[in-house]
Amino acid sequence: MDFRGKLILAPLAGVTDTTFRRLCRENGADIVVTEMVSAKGLLCDPVRSGRYLAYEEAERPVGAQLFGADPGEIAEAATEVARRGFDFVDINMGCPVRKVTGGGSGAAILSNPRLAGEIARAAVRAAGIPVTAKIRSGFGTEKETYLAVAEELFSAGIAAVTLHPRHRGQMFEGTADWTHIAALKRAFPGETIIGNGDVRAPGDAARMLSETGCDSVMIGRAAMGNPWIFALLTREIALPAGPAGPIPFAPFPIPEARRALILRHGEEMFLRHGEHGMKEMRKHLAWYSRGIPGAAAFRAELPKVADPDSFRTVVGRFF
Ligand SMILES: Cc1cc2nc3c(=O)[nH]c(=O)nc-3n(C[C@H](O)[C@H](O)[C@H](O)COP(=O)(O)O)c2cc1C
Repeated sequence: MDFRGKLILAPLAGVTDTTFRRLCRENGADIVVTEMVSAKGLLCDPVRSGRYLAYEEAERPVGAQLFGADPGEIAEAATEVARRGFDFVDINMGCPVRKVTGGGSGAAILSNPRLAGEIARAAVRAAGIPVTAKIRSGFGTEKETYLAVAEELFSAGIAAVTLHPRHRGQMFEGTADWTHIAALKRAFPGETIIGNGDVRAPGDAARMLSETGCDSVMIGRAAMGNPWIFALLTREIALPAGPAGPIPFAPFPIPEARRALILRHGEEMFLRHGEHGMKEMRKHLAWYSRGIPGAAAFRAELPKVADPDSFRTVVGRFF
């Protein structure tokens, strides 16, 4: 599988389920990946954790992201991911949340490049499908270990490394330091490097590619409520900026297309998850409303969205 020259939807816990991933694929995301799933959880309770691994053929290529700190567990869980038919497995080495790092997983692995290598090697040997890893720049400012970690990962046979260049202590504050992505690509020119962090608007993906030399771009928060961003960015990458600067694009599609997509999103959420799906849909609706006049009043109405009828009424009135 080739991870170069792609726009990739980032794993986003609580957001990038199968429905949302398909909407992004339809709108130009080249590769999608599940939210993070605990390797241990998947082995102990495959039915419960397996819910996060539901996917549809239309999503391909689709990867599953695992987190864990035990090479044996990751290897076994990666085998299970391959058995379920995923195209690749991604290992989370960047999650900053204490619940994850406290158990030695996620960004905690960045403090121990050798462990990163052991985990990667175990997964590569077991999975039989490509294995990728997603890292941050380090666990703290003084400990920016991404170069040492990447060295271990690539020598273990990892197919691509995604770098989100914030360290763990930054959580999502400040700005992503793209110079680290450039440094990573310079250090491993023959390997596939995926840049991630703060690609938000037209112009950003092309700028990340040209400033850092990375092979592909991963987009997270900017896709929330805006799966169309992939179509905009694809066009921008395909059509380089002329002498007058980047080509201006409308931030949204025409209202009819937007409304139709939102209705389909909510209807599928209801079909799949019933009432709970409608509740989940409220947060997507809040994101979809960003930047539209009257959004604050619209958001105040969201608690009323409880079933498909109220959903259709609220969406029809606002979008
Ligand atoms: C709500 C939310 C959930 C996230 N969940 C995950 C996750 O499950 N796995 C992961 O590797 N990163 C996760 N991230 C980090 C994103 O994948 C991404 O690295 C980060 O948001 C920076 O990219 P962006 O600036 O394009 O959003 C999450 C981020 C947010 C905001």
